[in-house]
Amino acid sequence: MAIALPESLEKIGKKFDGAELTPQETVAELDKYIIRQNAAKKAVAVALRNRYRRQKLPQELADEIVPKNILMIGPTGVGKTEISRRLAKLTSSPFLKIEASKFTEVGYVGRDVESMIRDLVRISVDVVKQEQVVVIREKAERNVEEKIMDILLPPLRRQSPDHAQEEMERFKQTREKLRKQFKQGVLDERLIEIETREKMASPFEIFSNSGVEEIGIHIQEMIPGLMGGKSKKRKVKISEAREFLLEDEQQKLIDMDQVNRLAVERVEHSGIIFLDEVDKISGRETGHGPEVSREGVQRDLLPIIEGTTVNTRYGLIRTDHVLFIGAGAFNVAKPSDLIPELQGRFPIRVELTSLDKGDFIRILTEPENALIKQYVALMMTEGLRVEFSQDAIEEIAEIAEKVNESTENIGARRLHTVMEKVMEEISFSAPDMKKKKIKIDKKYVKKQLEDIVKDEDLSRFIL
Ligand SMILES: Nc1ncnc2c1ncn2[C@@H]1O[C@H](COP(=O)(O)OP(=O)(O)OP(=O)(O)O)[C@@H](O)[C@H]1O
Ligand SMILES: [Mg+2]
Repeated sequence: MAIALPESLEKIGKKFDGAELTPQETVAELDKYIIRQNAAKKAVAVALRNRYRRQKLPQELADEIVPKNILMIGPTGVGKTEISRRLAKLTSSPFLKIEASKFTEVGYVGRDVESMIRDLVRISVDVVKQEQVVVIREKAERNVEEKIMDILLPPLRRQSPDHAQEEMERFKQTREKLRKQFKQGVLDERLIEIETREKMASPFEIFSNSGVEEIGIHIQEMIPGLMGGKSKKRKVKISEAREFLLEDEQQKLIDMDQVNRLAVERVEHSGIIFLDEVDKISGRETGHGPEVSREGVQRDLLPIIEGTTVNTRYGLIRTDHVLFIGAGAFNVAKPSDLIPELQGRFPIRVELTSLDKGDFIRILTEPENALIKQYVALMMTEGLRVEFSQDAIEEIAEIAEKVNESTENIGARRLHTVMEKVMEEISFSAPDMKKKKIKIDKKYVKKQLEDIVKDEDLSRFIL
């Protein structure tokens, strides 16, 4: 029995479309994780808000407004992917990040570009379903509780009328007592018999480049018995039974048709695809070699970015209003090396700047997930309190900058390798250390890294 929840669904749909954030709020959120790169942050924040604005317009007008796709250009390791990752977490818009280099031209072996829309819908379905789970959670839990109560203390059968009253009273009391114990977790360990459906791994895992993966899924839908496993009586602990039954109950309470419909709608109106490594598919036809395929991929991308319909198991998806954010280092190829039609489809260009020592100091310490914080937390699990002095942090930043200059500039990623080297010994011996506190100062950093930094060849290998 499926229960339709149209109203709550619609409400949720609105509430979760990630549009509550104003551009300033979005930038403020991104600021918590990414240092600098304001132009890029602003561009994505505005793009996000524009989706919301568009949805408020009358349909005729809304249909006309196409998203202004963004191209983020900047050297490696300066935050392009990081911005998109964080953006994905901020918005409940269906969001897919994928490397453009994963695709190959139609007819070649590899993934076709349309598969990204199929992936995006799948993500959207998951997101909408999760939201629904939250909505029905309480009801599902109540139902599960009743079911377990029924198993523990089966409902009374019809009794002779003169005993009925009394017996009913007693039954109720016992049941309430059990319920209380159940809620307190007292019964968690007790075994009960429930019917469970075995989860079988699908015998068909189909990875393919076109419609074939859809076929696999249809088979699954047509023969649920085959793929979904048999139901079987099993004795399990009450705590486990609760999980099993809860999942069952959720399946029943969630109207998947509605979820699918909403998910499709959400992809069409607020889907975002982050196309990483766009520079890797740039290059125009030279007549032979891999460039042929690269240009082919670009050509395949055109209709999807411009707006086409893609067939998915959830129905046809129009891609007109899906927002594309492209990113690439473009250190060899330039945006102008993309085929002109594709260039034109990324009207907004933002550049990300390369990072210097000052930025590194901030990256090491400021973001909520800053590297220094991570290492301190990791060591804390060993009962070891690690403290970094300011000059140690400056030294690390300086070394990272130096190595970037002398070998290859890999941006903030250099901090990871440098930090790993700084922490190497402490990391190794932390569990056995007698000391419970360690202060890392400039001297210590130098000692750990001096020899490597001095020797350029060595730094190439180690840092
Ligand atoms: N501006 C920044 N602020 C904070 N952390 C950053 C910044 N730039 C990069 N980082 C950190 O450096 C690492 C690499 O960054 P990211 O993945 O964003 O690089 P990218 O610009 O996508 O590079 P590529 O062109 O190689 O894909 C991440 O761990 C990220 O946390
Ligand atoms: Mg990247």
